[in-house]
Amino acid sequence: MLPVAELHIHIEGTLEPELLVKLAARNGTWMPVLDVEELRAQYTFDSLQSFLDLHYGNLRVLKIEQDFYDLASTYMTRAAAAGVRRAEIFFDPQTHLANGVPLEEVFGGLTAALTEGAKEHGISADLILCFLRDLGPEAADAVLRASLPFRDSFIGVGLDSTELGHPPALFAGVYQMAAAEGLRLVAHAGEEGGPDYVRGALDQLHVERVDHGVRSMEDPELVARLRDEQVALTVCPLSNVALRVVPALSEHMLPGMLDAGLLATVNSDDPAYFGGYVDDNMAAVQREFGFGDEQLARLARNSFDACFAPEADKQRWQAEVDSWLAARAARAAAGIQAS
Ligand code: ADE
Ligand code: ZN
Repeated sequence: MLPVAELHIHIEGTLEPELLVKLAARNGTWMPVLDVEELRAQYTFDSLQSFLDLHYGNLRVLKIEQDFYDLASTYMTRAAAAGVRRAEIFFDPQTHLANGVPLEEVFGGLTAALTEGAKEHGISADLILCFLRDLGPEAADAVLRASLPFRDSFIGVGLDSTELGHPPALFAGVYQMAAAEGLRLVAHAGEEGGPDYVRGALDQLHVERVDHGVRSMEDPELVARLRDEQVALTVCPLSNVALRVVPALSEHMLPGMLDAGLLATVNSDDPAYFGGYVDDNMAAVQREFGFGDEQLARLARNSFDACFAPEADKQRWQAEVDSWLAARAARAAAGIQAS
């Protein structure tokens, strides 16, 4: 299995229908649909907003620390099977606060599962607190302040939810506060929003990494800048198809991004909704674009380059990619079918 870092994964987006049904029963939460197949059948979307509306509704089943533990623990087990060595995991505290869940329950459950997953699966994992951009900058400021007592439990901040109409510049102040706290900075930009949103994230928020960023490809000057500065982009191919950012995987920008020399990585976004985890995304682009081992290894190397783990860990994982590639080459030379 190819070792990778997963840098764009919303823990709430790993809520599979099976766990949703279990948590609703455990907590006595009324839900309009509580059948696994019926839930899955609802998961077709025509835009980011159509997904978010359904997604936020489902999160009402998360009530207590144990629920957040179960959610993240299930993800860590699945991530281990996908070859994940490092996970930088988004979470949306504002959603849970709005559902009446105290931050203690959210942080308690998530951090316990990450600690346990590190021991059990050898995965290095950290949390990135996301601001819901449609709730505006004052709410972002408030949730960051409220989360500072848990400062040791997260390594960075991000910006997610409805992109159009909520440009990065609005959040310059709260990102400045996050930077002063020593937090790492990322933001969703260039998913539904155009290249201007990516420029805004770079220039106004000073992000170190751009989540999605695929619409940057519409602007050659921006592409040149992303290449020259080697800004990492956390691309989510199956998500982009599911949310109609692209009409089909065959038309995805990923090959063009790699050809342009961009530091693009492959990720799953909200795997319970979009057809798969990071390994499924890798397999999909491998199939669709005929990527060989060298290209898959490049994506894996990019993911470790782009991650916020200590340098020694990054080098160890990069060496694992080298070993994976060497083993694949040896098998091919011996005439053994790749697996
Ligand atoms: N929240 C969860 N998934 C998201 C996405 N793809 N874009 C913006 N916000 C999100
Ligand atoms: Zn996302």
